[in-house]
Formats: sequence, C-alpha cells, structure tokens
Amino acid sequence: MRTQIAIIGAGPSGLLLGQLLHGQGIDTVILENRSADYVLGRIRAGVIEQGMVGLLEEAGVAARLHGEGLVHGGTEITFDDTRHRIDFKKLTGKTVTVYGQTEITRDLMEARAASGAPTIYEAQDVTPLDFDGEKPRVRYRKDGKDHELACDFIAGCDGFHGVSRQSVPAGSIELFERVYPFGWLGILSDTPPVSDELIYINHERGFALCSMRSHTRSRYYLQCSLAEHVEDWSDSRFWDELKLRLDKEGRERLVTGASIEKSIAPLRSFVAEPMRFGRLFLAGDAAHIVPPTGAKGLNLAASDVHYLSRALVEFYREKSSAGIDHYSGRALARIWKAERFSWWMTTMLHRFPESSGFDRRLQHAELDYLVSSSAAAVAMAENYVGLPY
Ligand code: FAD
Ligand code: PHB
Repeated sequence: MRTQIAIIGAGPSGLLLGQLLHGQGIDTVILENRSADYVLGRIRAGVIEQGMVGLLEEAGVAARLHGEGLVHGGTEITFDDTRHRIDFKKLTGKTVTVYGQTEITRDLMEARAASGAPTIYEAQDVTPLDFDGEKPRVRYRKDGKDHELACDFIAGCDGFHGVSRQSVPAGSIELFERVYPFGWLGILSDTPPVSDELIYINHERGFALCSMRSHTRSRYYLQCSLAEHVEDWSDSRFWDELKLRLDKEGRERLVTGASIEKSIAPLRSFVAEPMRFGRLFLAGDAAHIVPPTGAKGLNLAASDVHYLSRALVEFYREKSSAGIDHYSGRALARIWKAERFSWWMTTMLHRFPESSGFDRRLQHAELDYLVSSSAAAVAMAENYVGLPY
C-alpha cells in the first residue's frame, strides 16, 4: 500500500490533519492502535479557541459546533471566597467556544468516513521506518498479518505515549519536562452547570474548576494528590469536596447527580525539540503536553496541524520545502508561549504541597494583581483566547 502522508494516531491532531489535507487533494492513511469506540470514549478538553474554530470550518466539520457549542465571552476566578470576572470579549474582542473534544473527534471521524479516506483502527505494532531517507515506510500488524505502508512523509500524531517520538534516536531529540506534585480528579454529570461561565477556583483545600459541555451536562475537576485512587471517590465524596471549595453562591446553586465518567489525570509540562526528523513530523501531544489549567492542549494540537498542513500543501503545490523546513521553529515558538501560560495558570491556582507562607502570600498577590490591573487581565485574556497563529 502507498499514500502521500501516513498519519499515526486518530486523535484530534491526526483526524484534523487528514481532513485539511483531503480538502487540498492530498492522500492520507491513518493508522490507530485503538478502536474508534475507545477513541470516542476518552473525555478530555472542552474549550476551543477561535483559531481552532476557523480550522474546523476550513475542514468542513464546524456545523454541529456552531449549533451546539456555547460561546463564552469571559471566565470567573474565585479566591478568598470571592468571584471575579475576566471579560475576554471586552479585553480582546475575542471569545472561546465550549464544545467537547469527544464531539470534535466524532465530527472529524464522520467527515473522514464520508470522504472515503482510509483509517485503519486496531493496527498493532505500528512502527515508523526509514524517515531519515527519501523513502519512509510504516509497518504495522492487523488481524494477525504484517503490512507495510510506503509514503512521502509520516505525521506522528500519536499522543504522549505514542511510538513516533520514541522512534527518534536519543541523540537527535531534546526533552524538557516538569511534573507537578498533584493531579486532577474529573467528573462528568448530566446536571446543569453551576454557572453560565467556567469558574477557576483557588482554595486552601486545593484548586477546583467548574466547566461544562452543554446547558445540561457539567464537567468538574478537583486538584487531588497523586496517591489518590478514583475508586475511593464516590460521587457524594466528590460533591462534598467541591462544595467546600466553591464560594457561597456556587454552593447554593450547585446541582449534584450521578457521574457518567470519573477519572484522574496527572499534570505535566513537556516539550520535545525539534518536531521534525527528516520525513517524520511530530504534532500535538506527541511533541508537547501542557497542564490543562490554561485549556491549551487541544488548541496547541490544532495550531501544529495548521502549520503542518500548510507546509505539506506548499510542498506538493509549489514544490517548495520552505514550509516543512520552518515547521518545527514556527510550531515551537507558539508552543513555548502556551507552556508559559499553562505553567503560570497552574502555579497561580493550585496548592503546592511544599509551598511556604511566603509562596502563598506571593500567589495571593498574583491573583490580586490579576483582578485589579487591566494590563494583567488583558495579558491573561489574550493568552486564554489564544495568540494568533
Ligand atoms: P491524542 O488525543 O492523545 O491522540 C493520539 C492518538 O494516537 C490516540 O487515539 C491514540 O490511541 C493513538 N496512538 C497512540 N499510540 C499509538 C501507536 N503506537 N500507534 C497508533 N496509534 C497510536 N486538554 C485541554 O485543553 N483540557 C483538558 O481538560 C484536557 N484534559 C486531558 C485529560 C487527559 C487524561 C489527557 C491525556 C489529555 C487532556 N487534555 C486536555 C489534552 C488534550 O486532550 C490533548 O492535548 C489532545 O487530546 C491532543 O490530541 P492529539 O491528537 O495530539 O493526541
Ligand atoms: C474542560 O471542560 O474539560 C476544561 C475546561 C477548561 C480547562 C480544562 C478543562 O482549563
């Protein structure tokens, strides 16, 4: 089998890249090691920047997002039991859209199926080969048989645990990492959200976030220790702890109910440099991770795909390798800004086990500055709604 671009991973990065390239007449084959249902079962991001909305429009998959997504013009930040609003629309002229990653993935999967472009699910032992030469290949097993896919380029869109980054010789890649001493315990429930906008809460018991997927479906997170087990968190224990971290109005308005998903995610900052190795490109979580506090993970995956899709179109249309030569540098410049913002939001809002009284006073001063200085609020809002591509 042969294709122009072999894409490893059918998460949002791989599917969006496939759809954008398909629109430009470039052939792709996607190899995914899980089943389609498994991929759709992962509950992850929920906040979409305008830049990503534009890419989904370009890919022809934004109809449901425009119908069902919730446009938010601001967010709330609570500390000292008091809520403060950061007005994105007023400060930057931009908004964000709340629409789940699961729904984006579903929309992209359906569009790909309709286009007839192949996705091979449950492909085992996917291995990128010979990407340092002119004739890269990807080997995989399916239904007990070995296969080989010849291609012009390989796009490694296979997430943090994927094979693409791990296939690069250790001496050719540099890794930067910070692991945070806590995780997020998240639940999804069919209950109305506690507020019309997201609420980010700094509390002495730990961070909490009130988010949503629709007017009838809520997503809540609690900072938890990495030693916690999800089985030890009954729904009632979760709601009781959330109430302790909410402000008075939130406590009164909170509607509780049975959870439909509950999981713990560790928090990490991670960047791999560069993002191109001959004819192999990394995109999305395969190359970088941000802690979710800035809502940047999925949006960064989309901006990588934006740069990579344009670079590949330029390569085939104009026979120019300028775009692919600049891909890594362009993507990394944006990634490090999102890394900084996500680290800053995480540091400002969480309780660190080792923090001293001095650290906590500084954190309080930072929050106070954010809600009392318009310059600080603009800086936060600009980053949250997304820097230009
Ligand atoms: P992924 O979504 O990880 O997709 C990679 C795909 O590659 C997967 O389908 C995987 O099965 C497949 N794959 C892996 N290995 C192989 C292999 N060897 N061969 C073939 N296929 C393979 N971001 C936010 O903004 N807000 C959040 O609240 C948030 N919560 C998150 C919670 C968790 C638990 C995680 C892991 C991430 C979260 N993120 C969040 C980040 C966001 O979901 C990611 O940035 C986004 O999923 C990146 O998309 P991706 O396509 O690059 O990677
Ligand atoms: C979510 O809704 O899952 C969500 C929203 C904002 C974040 C992180 C996660 O910062």
